[in-house]
Amino acid sequence: MAKFEHHLFVCENVRPPESPRGCCSAKGAAEVRARLKEELEQRGQKGRVRANGAGCLDQCAQGPCIVAYPGQVWYGGVTVADVPEIVDALLAGKVVERLVIPDAKLTGKAGAPR
Ligand code: FES
Repeated sequence: MAKFEHHLFVCENVRPPESPRGCCSAKGAAEVRARLKEELEQRGQKGRVRANGAGCLDQCAQGPCIVAYPGQVWYGGVTVADVPEIVDALLAGKVVERLVIPDAKLTGKAGAPR
């Protein structure tokens, strides 16, 4: 079985409405992933690019969040309307700059112990 060339991990984490952290699910993440899957299938990318549902990616304030691998591209505030542009960029080896979460806002630390 061939490996996927790209994974788009879409946070679909759910928290209670009273949670101060909020969650991507409450901001439409499931709809974003469903649209991604549809777009990838329409473009014949099923089997090459996978839109995975993910738990919390720890960028909750920026949600809905997607991280694309192997490029390590972090997108935030993604809407259903952004999906075709994201797929266009992915297939062209580019990035949708207006949706990229700046490094200074990411919670992960480069070089942190594993
Ligand atoms: S709930 Fe989506 S990144 Fe935390």
